[in-house]
Amino acid sequence: MPCNCCEMENNTFGEDEAKANLKYYRKRGPAKQTKLILEAIRSLKLKDVALLDIGGGIGTIHHELLKDVASEATHVDASSAYLKVATEEAKRLGHSEQVKFIHADFTDVADELPKVDIVTLDRVVCCYPNFRELLKAASSKSRTAIALTYPRDVWWTRVAVRVANFFQGLGKDPFRVFVHSVSEMEALLKSEGLKRMSTRRLLVWEMSLYQRVNR
Ligand SMILES: C[S@@+](CC[C@H](N)C(=O)[O-])C[C@H]1O[C@@H](n2cnc3c(N)ncnc32)[C@H](O)[C@@H]1O
Repeated sequence: MPCNCCEMENNTFGEDEAKANLKYYRKRGPAKQTKLILEAIRSLKLKDVALLDIGGGIGTIHHELLKDVASEATHVDASSAYLKVATEEAKRLGHSEQVKFIHADFTDVADELPKVDIVTLDRVVCCYPNFRELLKAASSKSRTAIALTYPRDVWWTRVAVRVANFFQGLGKDPFRVFVHSVSEMEALLKSEGLKRMSTRRLLVWEMSLYQRVNR
């Protein structure tokens, strides 16, 4: 289903970007911040779970977790170019039957989706202005845990994002990057019954794993 943000995401996360990401993944494996999500999920020692990957890009998280943790996955993405590449790679890996691909703004379709065990958002909240709406909808789908990466809330990411957004504006591109308040994201997830279990940091990215404490 086409969505309000899909056109913008299609422009920003287009075919060339998707192909470059796939090339990197095939050559070097998951990116550093994605590895933090994979390690956090694997630390839970789960088997045969259902995964929901929001804004999964080329599908790295389900390509990897379908090997040992998940038995089924749903990938919701606003970029049709990324979904196309993710679908082809899932086919190549023999996972086609286990992954459902949905082209949409997740917040538009969340109500129609079933609950799953694990929800992941790798570098997605920073693409979305209304992180509250996105994380509330994401947490409503998670029975067990959510793992997400986002830019660290520090001066150097805020400066870099300001510069990037300035050039986006000059190019008349409506897409913007956001450094959302980490404490506000945590407060929201806590109010949804999720507790932060671990956090790991790279220079730019931070990964947090939240587990459900209230059902
Ligand atoms: C920076 S890319 C990250 C892709 C992948 N997770 C990764 O880390 O390589 C952001 C992705 O989130 C998707 N996205 C952003 N907001 C979304 C939303 N509200 N619903 C679904 N997908 C969204 C974009 O289309 C894009 O594929």
